[in-house]
Amino acid sequence: MKNFQIQYSSKVLTVTVSRPKALNALNAELLEELNDIIQELYQNNDTRGLIITGDGDKAFVAGADIKELAVLDREQALALARSGQNLFKRIEDCPKPIIAAINGYALGGGCELAMACHIRIATENAKFGQPEINLGIMPGYGGTQRLTQIVGRGKALELMLTGDQISANEAKALGLVNHVVSGKDELMALANAIMNKIVNKSPLAVASIIKTVNAGFDFERAGYTAEAENFSACTDTNDFREGTKSFIEKRQPTFTGR
Ligand code: COA
Repeated sequence: MKNFQIQYSSKVLTVTVSRPKALNALNAELLEELNDIIQELYQNNDTRGLIITGDGDKAFVAGADIKELAVLDREQALALARSGQNLFKRIEDCPKPIIAAINGYALGGGCELAMACHIRIATENAKFGQPEINLGIMPGYGGTQRLTQIVGRGKALELMLTGDQISANEAKALGLVNHVVSGKDELMALANAIMNKIVNKSPLAVASIIKTVNAGFDFERAGYTAEAENFSACTDTNDFREGTKSFIEKRQPTFTGR
Protein backbone atom coordinates (compact mmCIF):
# COMPACT_ATOMS: atom_id res chain seq x y z
CA MET A 1 0.00 0.00 0.00
CA LYS A 2 1.24 3.47 -0.86
CA ASN A 3 -0.37 5.38 2.01
CA PHE A 4 -0.20 2.96 4.92
CA GLN A 5 2.42 1.09 6.89
CA ILE A 6 1.02 -2.20 8.12
CA GLN A 7 2.08 -4.40 11.02
CA TYR A 8 0.51 -7.58 12.30
CA SER A 9 1.21 -9.04 15.71
CA SER A 10 -0.71 -11.24 18.17
CA LYS A 11 -3.91 -11.14 16.07
CA VAL A 12 -3.90 -7.33 15.95
CA LEU A 13 -3.39 -5.30 12.81
CA THR A 14 -1.77 -1.88 13.28
CA VAL A 15 -2.04 0.50 10.36
CA THR A 16 -0.24 3.83 10.16
CA VAL A 17 -1.61 6.45 7.80
CA SER A 18 1.47 7.67 5.99
CA ARG A 19 1.20 10.65 3.68
CA PRO A 20 3.46 13.00 5.62
CA LYS A 21 3.80 15.69 2.94
CA ALA A 22 0.06 16.41 3.33
CA LEU A 23 -0.14 15.73 7.08
CA ASN A 24 -1.80 12.36 6.25
CA ALA A 25 -4.80 14.03 4.55
CA LEU A 26 -7.33 11.61 3.08
CA ASN A 27 -7.13 11.56 -0.72
CA ALA A 28 -9.06 9.18 -2.98
CA GLU A 29 -6.24 6.66 -3.27
CA LEU A 30 -5.75 6.55 0.51
CA LEU A 31 -9.50 6.04 1.09
CA GLU A 32 -9.50 3.13 -1.37
CA GLU A 33 -6.61 1.54 0.49
CA LEU A 34 -8.40 2.07 3.81
CA ASN A 35 -11.46 0.41 2.32
CA ASP A 36 -9.32 -2.63 1.40
CA ILE A 37 -7.89 -2.76 4.94
CA ILE A 38 -11.39 -2.71 6.46
CA GLN A 39 -12.58 -5.37 4.00
CA GLU A 40 -9.67 -7.59 5.03
CA LEU A 41 -10.44 -6.98 8.71
CA TYR A 42 -14.02 -8.16 8.21
CA GLN A 43 -12.94 -11.26 6.23
CA ASN A 44 -9.77 -12.49 7.91
CA ASN A 45 -10.66 -14.82 10.76
CA ASP A 46 -7.16 -14.63 12.25
CA THR A 47 -7.30 -10.86 12.79
CA ARG A 48 -9.18 -9.83 15.94
CA GLY A 49 -8.74 -6.06 16.02
CA LEU A 50 -7.32 -2.95 14.36
CA ILE A 51 -5.33 0.01 15.69
CA ILE A 52 -5.11 3.02 13.41
CA THR A 53 -2.60 5.82 13.91
CA GLY A 54 -0.76 8.49 11.90
CA ASP A 55 2.84 8.64 10.75
CA GLY A 56 5.13 11.03 12.66
CA ASP A 57 4.35 13.22 15.67
CA LYS A 58 2.43 16.01 13.98
CA ALA A 59 -0.71 14.55 12.48
CA PHE A 60 -3.13 11.68 12.85
CA VAL A 61 -5.06 12.88 9.77
CA ALA A 62 -5.39 16.61 8.87
CA GLY A 63 -8.69 16.10 7.05
CA ALA A 64 -9.88 15.35 3.56
CA ASP A 65 -7.38 16.36 0.90
CA ILE A 66 -8.29 19.99 0.23
CA LYS A 67 -6.48 20.07 -3.12
CA GLU A 68 -8.64 17.18 -4.34
CA LEU A 69 -11.81 18.67 -2.84
CA ALA A 70 -11.21 22.05 -4.50
CA VAL A 71 -11.86 20.72 -8.02
CA LEU A 72 -14.98 18.63 -7.34
CA ASP A 73 -18.30 19.48 -8.93
CA ARG A 74 -21.54 19.05 -6.99
CA GLU A 75 -22.26 15.50 -8.22
CA GLN A 76 -18.73 14.34 -7.51
CA ALA A 77 -18.93 15.90 -4.04
CA LEU A 78 -22.17 14.03 -3.34
CA ALA A 79 -20.60 10.73 -4.43
CA LEU A 80 -17.52 11.46 -2.30
CA ALA A 81 -19.58 12.20 0.81
CA ARG A 82 -21.67 9.06 0.33
CA SER A 83 -18.67 6.82 -0.19
CA GLY A 84 -16.83 8.36 2.79
CA GLN A 85 -19.94 7.95 4.96
CA ASN A 86 -20.24 4.30 3.90
CA LEU A 87 -16.59 3.54 4.61
CA PHE A 88 -16.76 5.16 8.05
CA LYS A 89 -19.99 3.28 8.74
CA ARG A 90 -18.19 -0.01 7.92
CA ILE A 91 -15.59 1.01 10.51
CA GLU A 92 -18.24 1.83 13.09
CA ASP A 93 -20.09 -1.44 12.42
CA CYS A 94 -17.03 -3.67 12.33
CA PRO A 95 -17.59 -6.61 14.69
CA LYS A 96 -13.92 -6.43 15.71
CA PRO A 97 -12.61 -3.58 17.89
CA ILE A 98 -11.02 -0.59 16.15
CA ILE A 99 -8.95 1.84 18.23
CA ALA A 100 -7.87 5.27 16.97
CA ALA A 101 -4.45 6.15 18.42
CA ILE A 102 -4.37 9.88 17.75
CA ASN A 103 -0.87 11.32 17.65
CA GLY A 104 -1.43 14.90 16.41
CA TYR A 105 -3.95 16.80 14.28
CA ALA A 106 -7.31 15.03 13.95
CA LEU A 107 -9.14 17.64 11.91
CA GLY A 108 -12.10 17.42 9.56
CA GLY A 109 -12.12 13.94 8.01
CA GLY A 110 -9.42 12.97 10.54
CA CYS A 111 -11.72 13.75 13.46
CA GLU A 112 -14.55 11.99 11.59
CA LEU A 113 -12.36 8.91 11.07
CA ALA A 114 -11.45 8.86 14.76
CA MET A 115 -15.11 9.24 15.76
CA ALA A 116 -16.08 6.24 13.61
CA CYS A 117 -13.61 4.08 15.58
CA HIS A 118 -14.83 2.33 18.74
CA ILE A 119 -12.25 3.79 21.14
CA ARG A 120 -10.15 6.96 20.88
CA ILE A 121 -6.94 7.68 22.77
CA ALA A 122 -4.61 10.61 22.13
CA THR A 123 -1.23 12.13 22.85
CA GLU A 124 -1.33 15.43 24.72
CA ASN A 125 -0.20 17.35 21.60
CA ALA A 126 -3.22 16.08 19.61
CA LYS A 127 -5.70 18.66 18.30
CA PHE A 128 -9.30 18.03 17.34
CA GLY A 129 -11.73 20.03 15.25
CA GLN A 130 -14.10 20.29 12.32
CA PRO A 131 -12.57 23.26 10.46
CA GLU A 132 -14.51 22.77 7.20
CA ILE A 133 -16.37 26.04 7.86
CA ASN A 134 -13.08 27.86 7.21
CA LEU A 135 -13.22 26.48 3.65
CA GLY A 136 -16.85 27.47 3.05
CA ILE A 137 -17.99 23.88 3.46
CA MET A 138 -19.17 21.50 6.22
CA PRO A 139 -18.31 18.02 7.48
CA GLY A 140 -19.32 15.29 5.02
CA TYR A 141 -18.09 11.95 6.40
CA GLY A 142 -20.58 11.58 9.24
CA GLY A 143 -19.12 14.28 11.50
CA THR A 144 -22.33 16.28 11.86
CA GLN A 145 -23.97 13.17 13.31
CA ARG A 146 -21.21 11.50 15.31
CA LEU A 147 -19.81 14.67 16.89
CA THR A 148 -23.34 15.55 18.02
CA GLN A 149 -23.83 12.03 19.42
CA ILE A 150 -20.52 12.10 21.29
CA VAL A 151 -20.28 15.64 22.70
CA GLY A 152 -23.91 16.81 22.51
CA ARG A 153 -25.64 19.29 20.22
CA GLY A 154 -24.49 22.57 21.79
CA LYS A 155 -20.76 21.83 21.84
CA ALA A 156 -20.92 20.07 18.44
CA LEU A 157 -22.53 23.13 16.88
CA GLU A 158 -19.96 25.43 18.47
CA LEU A 159 -17.08 23.32 17.14
CA MET A 160 -18.54 23.05 13.63
CA LEU A 161 -19.65 26.69 13.39
CA THR A 162 -16.41 28.22 14.70
CA GLY A 163 -14.01 25.67 13.19
CA ASP A 164 -12.00 25.97 16.42
CA GLN A 165 -9.41 23.38 17.32
CA ILE A 166 -9.44 21.90 20.82
CA SER A 167 -6.63 20.23 22.75
CA ALA A 168 -6.53 16.56 23.68
CA ASN A 169 -7.37 17.41 27.30
CA GLU A 170 -10.39 19.49 26.22
CA ALA A 171 -11.44 16.60 23.97
CA LYS A 172 -11.16 14.26 26.94
CA ALA A 173 -13.31 16.55 29.08
CA LEU A 174 -15.97 16.39 26.35
CA GLY A 175 -15.81 12.59 26.08
CA LEU A 176 -14.36 12.81 22.58
CA VAL A 177 -11.29 10.84 23.66
CA ASN A 178 -11.08 8.24 26.40
CA HIS A 179 -7.46 8.72 27.51
CA VAL A 180 -4.65 11.23 27.01
CA VAL A 181 -1.00 10.15 27.28
CA SER A 182 2.29 12.02 27.04
CA GLY A 183 3.84 10.74 23.80
CA LYS A 184 3.74 8.35 20.86
CA ASP A 185 5.38 5.40 22.68
CA GLU A 186 2.88 5.66 25.55
CA LEU A 187 0.07 5.99 23.00
CA MET A 188 0.90 2.77 21.17
CA ALA A 189 1.54 0.95 24.46
CA LEU A 190 -1.90 1.96 25.78
CA ALA A 191 -3.63 1.17 22.47
CA ASN A 192 -2.08 -2.30 22.53
CA ALA A 193 -2.90 -2.84 26.21
CA ILE A 194 -6.59 -1.96 25.66
CA MET A 195 -6.70 -4.01 22.46
CA ASN A 196 -5.13 -7.05 24.16
CA LYS A 197 -7.77 -6.94 26.87
CA ILE A 198 -10.53 -6.95 24.25
CA VAL A 199 -9.08 -9.57 21.90
CA ASN A 200 -8.85 -12.02 24.79
CA LYS A 201 -12.61 -11.78 25.40
CA SER A 202 -15.19 -13.78 23.52
CA PRO A 203 -15.26 -12.43 19.93
CA LEU A 204 -18.98 -13.16 19.79
CA ALA A 205 -19.69 -11.09 22.88
CA VAL A 206 -17.44 -8.28 21.57
CA ALA A 207 -19.32 -8.27 18.25
CA SER A 208 -22.67 -8.36 20.04
CA ILE A 209 -21.83 -5.32 22.17
CA ILE A 210 -20.71 -3.26 19.17
CA LYS A 211 -23.76 -4.27 17.16
CA THR A 212 -26.15 -3.54 20.01
CA VAL A 213 -24.69 -0.12 20.83
CA ASN A 214 -24.83 0.83 17.14
CA ALA A 215 -28.42 -0.37 16.89
CA GLY A 216 -29.36 2.63 19.02
CA PHE A 217 -28.02 5.02 16.34
CA ASP A 218 -29.91 4.45 13.12
CA PHE A 219 -27.62 5.15 10.16
CA GLU A 220 -30.54 5.33 7.74
CA ARG A 221 -31.80 8.44 9.51
CA ALA A 222 -32.26 11.67 7.67
CA GLY A 223 -29.15 13.21 9.25
CA TYR A 224 -26.64 11.36 7.07
CA THR A 225 -28.65 11.96 3.88
CA ALA A 226 -28.94 15.66 4.71
CA GLU A 227 -25.23 15.83 5.47
CA ALA A 228 -24.21 14.38 2.07
CA GLU A 229 -26.66 16.62 0.21
CA ASN A 230 -25.75 19.81 2.06
CA PHE A 231 -22.02 19.06 1.82
CA SER A 232 -22.32 18.74 -1.95
CA ALA A 233 -24.51 21.86 -2.19
CA CYS A 234 -21.75 23.84 -0.41
CA THR A 235 -19.28 22.83 -3.13
CA ASP A 236 -21.46 24.62 -5.69
CA THR A 237 -20.72 28.07 -4.22
CA ASN A 238 -18.23 30.89 -4.68
CA ASP A 239 -17.51 30.69 -0.96
CA PHE A 240 -16.29 27.09 -1.30
CA ARG A 241 -14.08 28.05 -4.24
CA GLU A 242 -12.70 31.01 -2.27
CA GLY A 243 -12.25 28.90 0.90
CA THR A 244 -10.26 26.13 -0.79
CA LYS A 245 -8.31 28.57 -2.99
CA SER A 246 -7.32 30.64 0.04
CA PHE A 247 -6.04 27.51 1.85
CA ILE A 248 -3.93 26.56 -1.16
CA GLU A 249 -2.66 30.16 -1.50
CA LYS A 250 -1.98 30.32 2.28
CA ARG A 251 -4.12 33.41 2.94
CA GLN A 252 -7.33 34.30 4.80
CA PRO A 253 -10.56 33.76 2.81
CA THR A 254 -13.11 36.50 2.07
CA PHE A 255 -16.61 35.03 2.09
CA THR A 256 -19.48 36.79 0.31
CA GLY A 257 -22.41 34.43 0.93
CA ARG A 258 -22.71 33.43 -2.70
N1 COA B 1 -5.38 18.63 2.50
C1 COA B 1 -4.33 18.79 1.69
N2 COA B 1 -3.12 19.21 2.09
C2 COA B 1 -2.98 19.48 3.39
C3 COA B 1 -4.03 19.35 4.32
C4 COA B 1 -5.29 18.90 3.82
N3 COA B 1 -6.34 18.70 4.61
N4 COA B 1 -3.60 19.71 5.54
C5 COA B 1 -2.31 20.06 5.38
N5 COA B 1 -1.94 19.93 4.10
C6 COA B 1 -0.62 20.21 3.51
C7 COA B 1 -0.39 21.71 3.39
O1 COA B 1 -0.97 22.20 2.19
C8 COA B 1 1.12 21.75 3.36
O2 COA B 1 1.55 21.41 2.07
P1 COA B 1 2.74 22.29 1.35
O3 COA B 1 3.93 22.02 2.21
O4 COA B 1 2.82 21.64 -0.01
O5 COA B 1 2.29 23.71 1.35
C9 COA B 1 1.54 20.61 4.30
O6 COA B 1 0.40 19.74 4.39
C10 COA B 1 1.86 21.09 5.71
O7 COA B 1 0.76 21.85 6.17
P2 COA B 1 0.92 23.34 6.76
O8 COA B 1 -0.41 24.00 6.65
O9 COA B 1 2.08 24.02 6.13
O10 COA B 1 1.26 22.99 8.28
P3 COA B 1 0.99 23.91 9.55
O11 COA B 1 1.70 23.24 10.68
O12 COA B 1 1.25 25.34 9.28
O13 COA B 1 -0.61 23.77 9.82
C11 COA B 1 -2.71 22.57 9.98
C12 COA B 1 -1.17 22.52 10.14
C13 COA B 1 -3.25 21.16 10.18
C14 COA B 1 -3.31 23.52 11.03
C15 COA B 1 -3.04 23.10 8.57
O14 COA B 1 -2.31 22.31 7.62
C16 COA B 1 -4.49 22.99 8.21
O15 COA B 1 -5.29 23.83 8.62
N6 COA B 1 -4.87 21.98 7.41
C17 COA B 1 -6.21 21.83 6.91
C18 COA B 1 -7.14 21.30 7.97
C19 COA B 1 -8.54 21.23 7.43
O16 COA B 1 -9.15 22.23 7.07
N7 COA B 1 -9.08 20.01 7.35
C20 COA B 1 -10.41 19.79 6.86
C21 COA B 1 -10.40 19.60 5.39
S1 COA B 1 -12.04 19.40 4.74
